[in-house]
Amino acid sequence: MNTLDEQAGLAHPYPAVALPLPWKMWEELLLDARGARNTEALQLGSTYTDTARRRSEAWRTRVRDVTVLPTDGLIVSNNLLRRAHVVLAYLLHFYANSLPLDALVIIPLSVGLPMLAVARALDMPPLLTMSDITSWNWTCITQGSEKHLHQDDIPTPRLPFDDLSSPAFSQLRSQTTFTNLPDECAFYMVSVRIELRGAEALRIMRSVFQELAASKANSHAQINPAITASVAAHLTRLAAVIRDQRSLLRDLRQGVDPELYFRCIVPWWRGQTPGRPWVFNGVDSSLYAAQLARLDGLSGGQSLMPAVLDAFLGVRNTTFARVRPYVPSEARRLTDYLSGVGPENGSSDSSGMPTSSFKEVITSPLRAFILKVASPELTSAYNEAVIALKEFRDAHVPIVTLYAVTQARKAAREAEKVAPDAGKAGKGNNGGAEILKIVKGARDRTAEALIHG
Ligand code: HEM
Repeated sequence: MNTLDEQAGLAHPYPAVALPLPWKMWEELLLDARGARNTEALQLGSTYTDTARRRSEAWRTRVRDVTVLPTDGLIVSNNLLRRAHVVLAYLLHFYANSLPLDALVIIPLSVGLPMLAVARALDMPPLLTMSDITSWNWTCITQGSEKHLHQDDIPTPRLPFDDLSSPAFSQLRSQTTFTNLPDECAFYMVSVRIELRGAEALRIMRSVFQELAASKANSHAQINPAITASVAAHLTRLAAVIRDQRSLLRDLRQGVDPELYFRCIVPWWRGQTPGRPWVFNGVDSSLYAAQLARLDGLSGGQSLMPAVLDAFLGVRNTTFARVRPYVPSEARRLTDYLSGVGPENGSSDSSGMPTSSFKEVITSPLRAFILKVASPELTSAYNEAVIALKEFRDAHVPIVTLYAVTQARKAAREAEKVAPDAGKAGKGNNGGAEILKIVKGARDRTAEALIHG
């Protein structure tokens, strides 16, 4: 926990804007796919015209023809590895999702092999994840200009993200998008703002764990009232941070058009499906079995902040378990740490990291402390934080309804008009009921964490 960035939390504090010279070819292919070098952006295989089809075929031919670049030189820097993951993930998704819908998805060696190597080095899946589009893909612009403040491996000036009125929030931009639509950038930046605002939440969690360690050191004595009061004050502050995050989530409605989001942006994030597997051409799949087992497309559940808050507060929400392999290893370690799942060797760190055996499910150290102390003041502060997280999820449900469920139903109705069989496929999707069950279930699990007098 001590290695997390003070200002950026779990977001990368200064994502590299471009790979160095030896990997320039990937950056150039990406610029061309995005239409950023006097070319036009690639279109989705489901939507294109004859000209767009020819253009995208020409781009894919170039991708297939480029040399397989070595990745050893990237392993020296976590920042470069992450940038490489972002670039290769975008190339991969541009390649796969610009193919005609009836074409087999065969990922060329020039992208597939380096992607598998980079993914293995980062212990990430070899395709687009939430981190690629958000935490590793943001930059700051100087006021009034699009000049990047970030440079490769040079820390960004320390910007305050503790106050929603900070101008730093409006200086954030995506480095890379699929569509060049402002809505796509706006969607990514909502998640980035929530993560950056969460840096204070992580600082609070560290302070609370220090207090818990101090109280553990005095386990035979009465719990010091000063520790109880301090933890209560931290939790009250945490509730305020979560309320800010809810407000940032609600801002999504202002910048992201639901139809553009569903029709033009989401399809680029698709990974392999049972009916349309991705085949990595020329790769010895036995060497990359772990990576190749993770090819599901992007999911909202890969957002880090709610999972971290669940772990800390001891909310028994299982949605994160499904997407764990799709989030960076430091987020996996942090959620284990906060929820009291210790490392295999059972060691503890300076702030009193819990020592239970790996994957053993126990009550989070914070929640155990609240239950043990049973102080009305402390319980009330804990409940305030839980209520704030529940209200964050309350705000998420109508967003999911508007952007995912309603749009999917609309698309299914339209498809049915054109081709009755396609419409039936949409209904087979359960009309979004399954999705709403997941997000409402997570909201209800949060409420269940409340401690009643
Ligand atoms: C247009 C905006 C959004 C849409 C359409 C959306 C959609 C969804 C959907 C369909 C799910 C359930 C299925 C799945 O796991 O993919 C989900 C889950 C989830 N989403 Fe979102 N989401 C949006 C924005 C966000 C944002 C900005 C965050 C937080 C930073 C977020 C956090 C979560 C979390 C944590 C889950 C797992 C359930 C839970 O633990 O509450 N989502 N989202």
